[in-house]
Amino acid sequence: MNILLLGSGGRESTFAWKMTQSSLCDQLFIAPGNAGTQQYGTNLAINPLDFEAVKEAVLSNQVNILVVGPEAPLVEGIYDFFQADESLKHVQVVGPSKEASQLEGSKAFAKAFMKEQDIPTAAYGEFTAENLADGLAYIDAQTPPIVLKADGLAAGKGVLILEDKEEAKTELKAMLDGKFGDASSKVVIEQFLSGIEFSVFVLTDGKDWQLLPVAKDYKRIGEGDTGLNTGGMGSISPVSFVDDTLMDKVKTQIIQPTIDGIQKRGLVYKGFIFFGLINVDNNPYVIEYNCRMGDPETEVVFPRLNNDLVALMKSMSEGTLDQHQIELDERAAAAVILVSGGYPGKYEKGKVITGIENVKDSLVFQAGTTLSEGQVITNGGRVIAITSYGKTFKEALAISNQNATVIDFEGKNYRRDIGFDL
Ligand code: AMP
Ligand code: GLY
Repeated sequence: MNILLLGSGGRESTFAWKMTQSSLCDQLFIAPGNAGTQQYGTNLAINPLDFEAVKEAVLSNQVNILVVGPEAPLVEGIYDFFQADESLKHVQVVGPSKEASQLEGSKAFAKAFMKEQDIPTAAYGEFTAENLADGLAYIDAQTPPIVLKADGLAAGKGVLILEDKEEAKTELKAMLDGKFGDASSKVVIEQFLSGIEFSVFVLTDGKDWQLLPVAKDYKRIGEGDTGLNTGGMGSISPVSFVDDTLMDKVKTQIIQPTIDGIQKRGLVYKGFIFFGLINVDNNPYVIEYNCRMGDPETEVVFPRLNNDLVALMKSMSEGTLDQHQIELDERAAAAVILVSGGYPGKYEKGKVITGIENVKDSLVFQAGTTLSEGQVITNGGRVIAITSYGKTFKEALAISNQNATVIDFEGKNYRRDIGFDL
């Protein structure tokens, strides 16, 4: 089978690494990919949001499976675009329909869905400019911190957590006034949940589901979880506090009711569901749904999955997903992300990266990289993920940290304390 993978990050490098291990994978194309994905297949200079260009690439390369890495094409309706086109109908799109993608694309949609399914999540209200007064009153009735969420996709910046009610009111007004454009024309205000977060992933055909390894990511730029939020500075799998008891609650209170809700609403969902969860006194709550895999969680989740990923995807379209048994690599995995100096603020691109070929005992998943005159150079904030295995995540982390000194580029920054709170 020929596969087209959309995206260009460390997540997509990991998909490419994993899928090309499958005997079912003939040719792999990545659009647009990065300098690292070229070792697994052919990069195509296509914007994943340009559906017509994606269509042309699919037809000219006889692609059988379209794997969508990031959320934007899904929320924009790439699944529906393929379904609506006679020449593309036969292609298996791994990812939910436009409507089902609202689980990530609209916080209000996700909250209403969870309420309907009685899935544990923070209490909330939703507000627009029309009922601003109600929103202000809602804030008054809360105990800070106040959690404000732009309803739509806001490039990961749409959540504000404020200690002060007056500040929260000012921010609510600014959001409804277009602070995040259309994405914040509706705002969800949520009860603040105190606990430790973790990430759960399933692959589903909307009827059956298979559980992938549990992971935890580290989003803050600074060690000890300080400083600004980033796209992710590292990840580990498994997660020590997620024991069988907690996982049973996740399955019965969250995953199964989510699948039931998808069926009840008649949503078309054939892809990954990423449950962003928080453990509050040994009870799991949903912080958010994503309609794709996580980054940098994928960089530790797929290395711990022994199954053939392409076979799982194929079964998904054939309705035989339930016939698989997920096989885990019992070792722990830890990923450390090398980032550009200044990230997540302003940073420079185009720095020459050295030492990748000298890495031993780790997997290197490139993210923000590109090729220039035969050299690999930086091309984004998050540049490279270094994933290692160990008996414990600490052992794995020590290897990744060691290799983080082997790869070099001007301004390189990374956290040495991934998993510090476990
Ligand atoms: P989201 O985009 O919904 O995942 O929110 C971004 C981050 O904000 C989450 O990863 C949490 O760290 C934090 N957050 C979101 N909602 C809440 C909440 N209700 N209580 C506490 N923290 C939250
Ligand atoms: N690691 C969080 C995300 O992918 O959204």
